[in-house]
Amino acid sequence: MTRLPPIRSQLPRVQECLLTWYARHARRFLWRRADASPYTKLLSEVMLQQTQTARVELKLPVFQQRFPDLKTLAAADNAEVIRAWQGMGYNNRAIRLRDCALAIVRRHKGRIPNDYDQLVMLPGVGPYTASAIMAFVYNSDIPVIDINVSRVLSRLFQRQSSTADALPAALVQRLAARALPRGRSSDWHQALMDIGAQYCLSFAPRCADCPLRDMCRSADRMTARRPERRREPSHRGTPNRIWRGRVVEQLRSVEADDWLAAETLLRRLMGPSLFEADGQDERTWFRALLQGLEKDAIITIAKDAPRAEDLLLRLARD
Ligand code: ADE
Repeated sequence: MTRLPPIRSQLPRVQECLLTWYARHARRFLWRRADASPYTKLLSEVMLQQTQTARVELKLPVFQQRFPDLKTLAAADNAEVIRAWQGMGYNNRAIRLRDCALAIVRRHKGRIPNDYDQLVMLPGVGPYTASAIMAFVYNSDIPVIDINVSRVLSRLFQRQSSTADALPAALVQRLAARALPRGRSSDWHQALMDIGAQYCLSFAPRCADCPLRDMCRSADRMTARRPERRREPSHRGTPNRIWRGRVVEQLRSVEADDWLAAETLLRRLMGPSLFEADGQDERTWFRALLQGLEKDAIITIAKDAPRAEDLLLRLARD
């Protein structure tokens, strides 16, 4: 296994500097407030997985007003949570969050467990979310590694030659465990996240302004290189992820017992150019998109039909 970079001499200064900086300059999010409940923190972590902080700041209070606690969320049907999730994208996360609430109510008497192994067994909770809950709800000394934290630790403790480089994940995991100041997990990780979001940027780091500059092994020494981007499945130049969101958006306003004809929906999304070029390909693509949404229990398709545009659709209930 690759060796950890030597950090012993560098570490006390980094810890002291970062925690002192954070005490003064932490970004003030509502899920970081002293009175934020474990439920608010759970919601924020799930929302922050793929949505920007500014948007989560706007949407979290609306969602929490609709579902003020785990019990109300646990009792919601799919269409209800999808509606309340409006503007967040990735609607299957909303369903999994409801499933998570249900599992906490049933298995843990409505209390979010203070145990990594139990957390990671909850629906929709992966290693990142489980560790984030352990750190931010229970201040447990466990590494929390998202893309920002991984980038900051890599650069700070080992010289990276370009902005596209970072240490391998297994090494970052060990490094993060070693670097963590005991008893300060919550502040420490949120501080690393703030550095990653504001200074240690992926492509254009702001080393000159970074509070860790004097103790960073990569500051001002990386050549600018963009990391490779993964190609997403797309149609007409727009990712399917976005199309899925648009379909759901159209179905949100359909009354509880009504259906929307796929053709109406498609005309709204595509305008007059629908089926113009490669009509058959477009039908095949659209059917697959709907089947994906149905498989994720986000929509219900009333009946099968030979032509994709003859299907009837609405948001799923359960
Ligand atoms: N504070 C707590 N969790 C966070 C996250 N995932 N992103 C940014 N700030 C946070």
